[in-house]
Amino acid sequence: MHELLPNFIEAPATVPARHAAELAAGLLSRPARVAPKHLYDPLGCRLFEAITALPEYTATRTEAAILAVHGAEIVRALGTGMTLVDLGAGNCAKAASLFSLLQPARYVAVDIAADFIRDALQALQLRHPALPMTGVALDFSQALALPEALGGGQRLMFYPGSSIGNFEPAHARRFLRQAREQCQGGALLIGVDLVKPLAQLLPAYDDALGVTAAFNRNLLLNVNRQLGSDFDPADWAHLACFDPAASRIEMHLRALRAVRVRWDGQQRDFAPGDTIHTENSYKYRIEQFDALLHEAGWSDTRCWTDSEQGFAVFGAKA
Ligand code: AVI
Repeated sequence: MHELLPNFIEAPATVPARHAAELAAGLLSRPARVAPKHLYDPLGCRLFEAITALPEYTATRTEAAILAVHGAEIVRALGTGMTLVDLGAGNCAKAASLFSLLQPARYVAVDIAADFIRDALQALQLRHPALPMTGVALDFSQALALPEALGGGQRLMFYPGSSIGNFEPAHARRFLRQAREQCQGGALLIGVDLVKPLAQLLPAYDDALGVTAAFNRNLLLNVNRQLGSDFDPADWAHLACFDPAASRIEMHLRALRAVRVRWDGQQRDFAPGDTIHTENSYKYRIEQFDALLHEAGWSDTRCWTDSEQGFAVFGAKA
């Protein structure tokens, strides 16, 4: 029997020298910063999966529950038979749970973690041998530019998990606009974490088991590999805080002692207490995110939430 194999497209790799230059510039700025995409090396992807199973981190489970409860209505609003473009697919589990509902004509998994989606997609293809699948290794953290080779047909852009919250709002607007331009007259299905009491928000980013701390500190090992630096994660503590004015959780790494980090003829001295900013996670109000969708050109917006309004799934048409 002929077996359908997933097809893979590797977007032109980021020039390593530019990558290293960006990391170096971030480490030398005051305060230092490293972009959140560096959280997602293979170990980081696994640690993030573990985060989604933590009692304190409810976003993933709440989103799954919303999709399960309102699935039929969502499909009525958005339609079926499109190419399902899974942005930041990870282990592809969320999109796969919607196949029976959305009846996609094709599945496209897009992620920066090439090896991670390659494995996930190969396993998924065995379970869905008749569904054409394509993996796209792409870093869309700066701009969303899907490869031409993906071809035609209406696309349902699927961006779950509130990853949109990891963009600055202006960047989120630009990303949503780019997603609309590339959906070929299709639709959008996107998950958004909502503003909620601090007593729920903070533990979600500073859990009792320390999984989020490990996720944050693992970024230093990834930076070491990419830059040739000599960070010791044991020198750094995880720090999560909420900035109410910006409506965002911030993650930082805080130096526990005086640290000198060296790489490629350069160095940065950190005093005890100095920080490296590693991530923002914006929390939206429903009407705020709805306005953002309209500003980005989407129409017919719909929103489904859980009973506590902790998380929202938005649908929209191009
Ligand atoms: C991927 N993203 C939506 C997660 C979030 O909640 O911002 C990343 C994360 N960072 C710490 N915990 C989870």
